Amino acid sequence: MDRYQSFARSGIGRFVVGRLGLPDPHPLRRHSPGKPPLDGPVLLGGGDGGRLADAAGGVAKSMGLDVLTAPADGVRYGALVFDASGIDSVERLRELHGFFHPVIRSLAPCGRVVVLGTPPEQAESQVAQRALEGFTRSVGKELKRGATAQLVHVAPGAEGAVESTLRFLLSGRSAYVSGQVVRIGPADVAAPADWDRPLAGKVALVTGAARGIGAAIAEVLARDGATVVCLDVPAQGDELSAVANRVGGTALQLDITAADAPARIVDHLSQRHGGVDVVVHNAGITRDRTLGRMDADRWDAVVAVNLASQLRVNETLLAADALRPNGRIVGVSSIAGIAGNVGQTNYATTKAGVIGMVDSLSRRVEGRATVNAVAPGFIETRMTAAVPLVIREAGRRMNSLSQGGLPVDVAEAIAWFAHPASAGVNGNVVRVCGQSLLGA
Ligand SMILES: NC(=O)c1ccc[n+]([C@@H]2O[C@H](COP(=O)([O-])OP(=O)(O)OC[C@H]3O[C@@H](n4cnc5c(N)ncnc54)[C@H](O)[C@@H]3O)[C@@H](O)[C@H]2O)c1
Repeated sequence: MDRYQSFARSGIGRFVVGRLGLPDPHPLRRHSPGKPPLDGPVLLGGGDGGRLADAAGGVAKSMGLDVLTAPADGVRYGALVFDASGIDSVERLRELHGFFHPVIRSLAPCGRVVVLGTPPEQAESQVAQRALEGFTRSVGKELKRGATAQLVHVAPGAEGAVESTLRFLLSGRSAYVSGQVVRIGPADVAAPADWDRPLAGKVALVTGAARGIGAAIAEVLARDGATVVCLDVPAQGDELSAVANRVGGTALQLDITAADAPARIVDHLSQRHGGVDVVVHNAGITRDRTLGRMDADRWDAVVAVNLASQLRVNETLLAADALRPNGRIVGVSSIAGIAGNVGQTNYATTKAGVIGMVDSLSRRVEGRATVNAVAPGFIETRMTAAVPLVIREAGRRMNSLSQGGLPVDVAEAIAWFAHPASAGVNGNVVRVCGQSLLGA
């Protein structure tokens, strides 16, 4: 909990925050093994012609959640899930109001709203399906006490590919994700033998793993069963070894911008592990200056680490056929790459470029691998601890959850992309930003 959050939870703090209408950051309910995924049953609704209610109900039950199909008195719902995929006219959008209006105030703290729809361009009414986006994002902004709202567009034929995504969204794994639109396409999906260790037998490479978000990614992928190859620069060798030991993985010390880095990475993965299943391009740097004051070295350094080296690694991996079938490439973008940011022309260029990498590569590898990215907002790390206080406080509060996220929140989203059952999740950029006001 940050200091403001502790204050807001204290007796006097509650009074002051309430009277002045200040941000009220509710402690987020994160995933914890053995704990139920949500506090309360799922209320499931759906309009005529919907394709997804059965699949959603089945997933919720297999997660151990109770599923209600009609509102019940006095119940605090863990989630409200509405299948809007059958909505084929603007008039029928009224069904959203009909379902949510009577129950939205009975959502438990840290509850979930999930709207299921059809990708607009494949829908009977493109207008009505596109309209779901404005609805869901507004609900996300209205919800209080750590609750979140998302829209999932499921392509016709992809009804069987939704489980990993719903398990992510209907649990504390998505604690800091809100106001997002996820797309799922058709894919052959086999359920893992064990949903708690879906990456058992898989090999994952995480760059920039010595600290911060990268260390959290290594931990979460290892928790999910992967053997993790932790990569960072030699100068971070001690911290890198500590992370690798903690997660039972191996350390690979190298600078990803070195000319021979892609070949060394591919050699290491091929010789030691016979290939790789999950590649997470997390290493990133900032060298902030407004454009008029930015020397070319600052520009070049950021482009080299955050974008150019990743493209070279991808090409070398694919050329050597080192990415195994049903492989995963995950990029780490930033909301700065979506909204832009003062002093970060170099950084935002690279982070928007990561989104371009997702767009182009996801199409190229479709059917044999997926390529997605997270776009974190304000995450509590050394990078953000160095930001001046006033800007840091603004960054923390300017989102629907009124707080910064934790590295584990980014890592959980990456683990969802990495999941073998997420084969239909391809070409997505999902923000882990608590529905930040920036670039929304
Ligand atoms: N912290 C945030 O709020 C935030 C927000 C948006 C995006 N991100 C992105 O998340 C990622 C991780 O951020 P973080 O906050 O954990 O940063 P961090 O600075 O704590 O960690 C980055 C790691 O990358 C490593 N690295 C840098 N250059 C490298 C190179 N050439 N070769 C190998 N490793 C290299 C560093 O040594 C470091 O261990 C970055 O891509 C960052 O841009 C962070």
